[in-house]
Amino acid sequence: MAESGIARGAVALVTGASAGLGKAAAIRLAERGCKVICAGRRQEPLRALAKQLGKGAIAFTLDVTDAEGCRTLVDRLPGSHRQIDILINNAGHDTGGRKKFDEGRIEDFAAIAETNIIGLMRVAHAVLPGMVGRGRGDVVNLSSTAALRQYALTNVYAATKAFVRSFTEGLRHDYKDTDLRIIEMMPGMTRTEFAATRFGGDQARGDAYYGRFPGILDPDDIARAIVYALDQPRSVTVAQMLVVPTREAL
Ligand SMILES: NC(=O)c1ccc[n+]([C@@H]2O[C@H](COP(=O)([O-])OP(=O)(O)OC[C@H]3O[C@@H](n4cnc5c(N)ncnc54)[C@H](OP(=O)(O)O)[C@@H]3O)[C@@H](O)[C@H]2O)c1
Repeated sequence: MAESGIARGAVALVTGASAGLGKAAAIRLAERGCKVICAGRRQEPLRALAKQLGKGAIAFTLDVTDAEGCRTLVDRLPGSHRQIDILINNAGHDTGGRKKFDEGRIEDFAAIAETNIIGLMRVAHAVLPGMVGRGRGDVVNLSSTAALRQYALTNVYAATKAFVRSFTEGLRHDYKDTDLRIIEMMPGMTRTEFAATRFGGDQARGDAYYGRFPGILDPDDIARAIVYALDQPRSVTVAQMLVVPTREAL
């Protein structure tokens, strides 16, 4: 039987590990023996997660909109965690979104693009040279079903995810002569902090929004799909994965 593509003791950097999909992915990767770098802005949940995971997991301050913080991210890591084998490029939001374009604030739309597009690029740009130098590594970029089509009131958010989709394909071309695996994960509707964050921290409104989707996915559904993709033999790249609730039409 072919060997798993996840090496025991692999270092995995998960951006946005303080909540939702990133947290779930961190848990599953730690279960698979990875040393997880739990990255994000909120240190308290990251520290609690790292403690829960053990096995070499660490909490790490990373705001993907901070250019200098991203540029220096590998140098800021302890020596034991500098050789990043797996990047889960997950941090993202739609804060202030779900409005007609003219009714939303341009500052909010710019911040969504800054995180979902520029932030994702900054982290990949900091991590990829090490992977290229070692001739090995896995990048999982989180796009969305919204990368495939616009829904009502997803204007800027969906466009940022279409960027992630195209960018990920571009990276796959760039590294096609190497053993790097470049993976796009496209989740459907999943219950996380995303909706409450989108509505400026209004938890009741976030819950009501998710209540409209009875078949909604759990973050662990996506975490298991990520592990499935990474688990394949290193000669296999699961290039794109579209994971949707069974009971929701796309
Ligand atoms: N939930 C869904 O239905 C769904 C569907 C498709 C795709 N996605 C994508 O999945 C990814 C994760 O979303 P989620 O649903 O898990 O949302 P979530 O529960 O709100 O988690 C978002 C994570 O992103 C982090 N984050 C936001 N801005 C950041 C920044 N500037 N720097 C570093 N970290 C930042 C947050 O951490 P801090 O606040 O601690 O920094 C948080 O850990 C996003 O890219 C989202 O677009 C979600």
